[in-house]
Amino acid sequence: MPRAHALLLEKVHPSADDEFARHDVSSTRIDKGLDEAELIAALRAAPGDLPLVVGIRSKTRVTKAVIDAVDRLQAIGAFCIGTDQIDLAAARAAGVAVFNAPFSSTRSVAELVMAELVMLSRQVFARSRAAHGGKWAKNAQGSHEIRGKTLGIIGYGHIGSQLSVLAEAFGMQVLYYDVVTKLPLGNARACASLDELLAKSDFVSLHVPDTDFTRDMIGARELGAMRPGAHLVNASRGRVVVLDALRDAIAGGHVAGAALDVYPEEPASESDPFVCALQGQDNVILTPHIGGSTQEAQANIGLEVAVAVSRYLEGGRTLGCVNLPQLDMPPPPSLRGQAACRLLNIHRNVPGVLSRINAVIAQSNVNIAGQALGTLDDVGLLLVDMPLRSDEPAAAQLCAAIAALDTSVRTRLVEV
Ligand code: NAI
Repeated sequence: MPRAHALLLEKVHPSADDEFARHDVSSTRIDKGLDEAELIAALRAAPGDLPLVVGIRSKTRVTKAVIDAVDRLQAIGAFCIGTDQIDLAAARAAGVAVFNAPFSSTRSVAELVMAELVMLSRQVFARSRAAHGGKWAKNAQGSHEIRGKTLGIIGYGHIGSQLSVLAEAFGMQVLYYDVVTKLPLGNARACASLDELLAKSDFVSLHVPDTDFTRDMIGARELGAMRPGAHLVNASRGRVVVLDALRDAIAGGHVAGAALDVYPEEPASESDPFVCALQGQDNVILTPHIGGSTQEAQANIGLEVAVAVSRYLEGGRTLGCVNLPQLDMPPPPSLRGQAACRLLNIHRNVPGVLSRINAVIAQSNVNIAGQALGTLDDVGLLLVDMPLRSDEPAAAQLCAAIAALDTSVRTRLVEV
């Protein structure tokens, strides 16, 4: 009997089924998005009475109604970056863990940016457009190698640091600016301020998250602080750059060109129109948020989410979970080589919960070998490692007694 069953929708990459199978989680597929009623019916019809996982991408909405209707739903895998399509608060309140894959497309984004640096520097798009129109624009005017030029990376996280390595392999000098102190890779150097980076870079590439501090972080003043003739690339989030200011800086000639993959307003679907202040400019590359859209990224997403969900089902580990406290407790050394189990308890975050749970454990005369507690808003997650086999009646009785506390939302035995 498998440990759990995963219903995978929307053509999640097959790497997910393979990984689930490795963790003893069976899976079935419905290759399209489902509406609320269809999703409830499909989950209720899932095989056996196993704990359930639902895997979705961006089209299927997992609402409170879905979460409340399917009691055996343990986890939701968002096989994408965003989780807006899931009612995260309802999932948290019901003790349903949500996992996504924020870092699976790192390489894909970095490769696109590298390509764009060359395309901008060689005016490839303008020349291609001319050639399509029957014009032979064969000259070296305004065309440069990127070797020896300086790339300024704003945000030296997963993508920024990967880009740093690729850019150095092209012979570029790399500067970066990050609000957190980051270890430089290769010969990259950190800048003390954003202005220092802007003043020293031939290309500026943004790789920051969308926060209150990054919104509009590149406006008229910052564009004016860039080197004359420099290029700007934004494949991070649309609201980081003020597009009207960028249009003016390019029209005025101070900024030579730009490549944008993300926009403040993006169409919801391929059939909706796309409008942007920089349309129609020859030295601007516009791509429809495809930085992470590769088969390799999809395969990575399948793997990353399936691993995270499986680790949660097996051992209660919530690393990468977006709506529950993140706990990754290793087994305590005192349990090594012994029969042991881990109790997972998701509870309402109110005073006194821990002492009530520990009182139940103390009454059953079981020693606690390890314990970890995390809280997030209205919910707490507790892991308790005990020297009991999970199939011993004592373990099941203890689990039932803790599940019966009025503060408990979900309680189950997992592996240590
Ligand atoms: P990350 O979290 O690994 O790195 C972000 C870095 O930005 C961190 O080092 C952080 O300290 C830094 N940072 C935060 N605020 C800053 C500020 N005010 N100034 C300077 N640095 C700041 O994120 P990752 O994976 O590298 O992604 C970067 C961006 O790329 C995100 O906005 C993400 O949404 C976007 N992205 C875009 C894709 C696309 O298809 N175009 C695909 C994947 C990610």
